Amino acid sequence: MPYSVPKLTDFSSAALDAAAGELLFALEQESSAVSSENDWKNFRDRWMARKNGVLTQVNDLWLKAAPKDAKREVGQRVNELKAKVERSVDATLARIQGGPSSARLADERVDVTLPGIRRPLGAQHPVIKTMNEIIGVFRNLGYSVEEGPEIETDYYNFEALNFPPNHPARDTQDTLFIAGQDSKPLRDRLLLRTHTSPVQIRTMEKMKPPVRVICPGKVHRNDAPDATHSPIFHQVEGLAVDTNITFCDLKGTLDHAMKALFGSSVKTRFYPSFFPFTEPSADVQISCIFCGGTGTRDGGPCRNCKASGWIELLGCGMVDPNVYGFVDYDPKKVSGFAFGMGVERIAILKYGVDDIQLFFNGDVRFLEQFA
Ligand code: DAH
Repeated sequence: MPYSVPKLTDFSSAALDAAAGELLFALEQESSAVSSENDWKNFRDRWMARKNGVLTQVNDLWLKAAPKDAKREVGQRVNELKAKVERSVDATLARIQGGPSSARLADERVDVTLPGIRRPLGAQHPVIKTMNEIIGVFRNLGYSVEEGPEIETDYYNFEALNFPPNHPARDTQDTLFIAGQDSKPLRDRLLLRTHTSPVQIRTMEKMKPPVRVICPGKVHRNDAPDATHSPIFHQVEGLAVDTNITFCDLKGTLDHAMKALFGSSVKTRFYPSFFPFTEPSADVQISCIFCGGTGTRDGGPCRNCKASGWIELLGCGMVDPNVYGFVDYDPKKVSGFAFGMGVERIAILKYGVDDIQLFFNGDVRFLEQFA
């Protein structure tokens, strides 16, 4: 028996629910039986024809017949049913034609004039940015980039760099050692590298001169964190080995690099120092970028250079001939220089940051200033 709209006598919510349920069930069934355009026209007319369509009957038999106090609710429901029937008729046509119904199109409409969702762009961390800048300066001089492991052996971190076992220079670079290695020979024991200098050795082991490399990376030390120290920081190491390389080449290279990093008015000064793997060794100082090297600022002593006019920035020297002995280079034929600088230290100066910890706390308010 096809569905026919019943007369209603009970206008309670429950009775209306039941009547609407039956009607929708019939709608569903009849819709799914539609398989041609002709079927669909019949289906549409049966449900929507002005004269005696199901909806018209619902209007007459349910709404018009409803007592006054039920009119409001019945009216609402009849409207809902009407919307559902219209959608179903639409969707049925779309189904047999194989396209989306206009109801679905309306549902999924996208307003392309609305503003889009802005995805915040990531940015380089200031330490990485500074590191890349340093690398860029040396790349332009023809250096290539080499990297090495952060977990290093005692041999590469110390011994081959001419720090003999028990040499006091080791005390300045205490670090974490991997536990439980007592049965291994000292040189094979693993530790967190204290500097990027071991990459010099690894590079010379695999390349013959001429060598010009820059070695960026993370290093570790037993240093309590404070405004200028961190147990983890970054260095960029440099190494140039060739025939006839002199201290003049070292001075010229680093003077150029400091000017490229801090501005062409910066001066450099080389101060005698000691590193086991270079002889002679020097600390490089640059003229204070805060007071222009005068030592005074705002009418008082410059705090950044302690009124000296100079800021110590990196270590360097001529590669010690002993080091060549570890990598099969002939110190009678080649010579070279090396240098190592702390990336955070340079970033602090370049950006006027007053606490190294800010680089590691991950506070976006700090970091986004460098974006
Ligand atoms: N490795 C040294 C350090 O961590 C820095 C350094 C000094 C590196 C002199 C060098 C160098 O290559 O020649 O303190």
